[in-house]
Amino acid sequence: MTLSILDTSPTKDLLAKLSGLDGPGGNQRLKQVVQRVVSDMFKTIEDFDITPVEFWAAMSTLTEVGQRNEFGLLAPGLGIEHFFDLRIDEQEKQAGLEGGTPRTIEGPLYLADAPMSKGEARLDDGSEQGEVLFMEGQVRDTDGKPVPDAIVDVWHANTLGGYSFFDPSQQPWNLRRRIETDAEGRYRFRSVLPAGYGCPPDGPTQRLLTQLGRHGQRPAHVHFFISAPGYRQLTTQINIAGDKFLHDDFAFATRDELIPPITRHADATDPKVPDASKMGLNAPYSEIKFDFTLNREVASLPDTVVVREHAKAA
Ligand code: BEZ
Ligand code: FE
Repeated sequence: MTLSILDTSPTKDLLAKLSGLDGPGGNQRLKQVVQRVVSDMFKTIEDFDITPVEFWAAMSTLTEVGQRNEFGLLAPGLGIEHFFDLRIDEQEKQAGLEGGTPRTIEGPLYLADAPMSKGEARLDDGSEQGEVLFMEGQVRDTDGKPVPDAIVDVWHANTLGGYSFFDPSQQPWNLRRRIETDAEGRYRFRSVLPAGYGCPPDGPTQRLLTQLGRHGQRPAHVHFFISAPGYRQLTTQINIAGDKFLHDDFAFATRDELIPPITRHADATDPKVPDASKMGLNAPYSEIKFDFTLNREVASLPDTVVVREHAKAA
């Protein structure tokens, strides 16, 4: 049996040296991670007989991913953001935590510090021609007790799948608000029905997905961070039922419990919305009711607040 080059002393020495594991100082955890990642890379090169030309093509794709700020697309597209959700789900289950609204990925399009209001808000700035969406619900704990003063931080795409700030054609803060729940833990907002997001068709993430025989589309969705003192922050989304990509999200974020029924009203003069004409509704509109359940904070579990470099409005 021939010895794989991976098991020879030159390769082993190289891995120890390049990761710094052969010497003192530095960050031990990082050294071990680098050793593992590079050694897995060596194994991949060996097993698939990766050529230098293929390797440098991959490096130039990654360079482009960075230049075009697409790592936030690549990671969910490769299922890595969803994998983190699966891990924390399992950790919570092991700790006996259950009953909360399921989490799902944050995605790369959040903007911190959206305008805040009490109880209700209008998210759109009136420039969208889309179908009006009313959404409302209650934030409760796992005992069913309402959580007043919780922050419902909500953001979503416009009718073309674009997000304000990242899409410079939209006004600042369009379709982004923070709503503080009222004394009964309730929130409600008016907005427009979003369209699904699609990866830039000329970018490196879409190029990779195409090579994998995949698309880069997401179903229409609305994002939320729900937070309140003493509770684990919930990062989640609801999907718009009926979307073509509902169960075929390139970012793997759809969860069955996050597809609330959507009520479509063909007639805006429906008495259920008595002030419809006052609100200028003269077309079909939609309604979603969705309650959020928060789990209590558990000190021994990893924090659900994921610190990452969020974009900041100037
Ligand atoms: C989004 O939430 O729209 C999104 C999530 C992952 C990748 C790209 C977009
Ligand atoms: Fe999104």
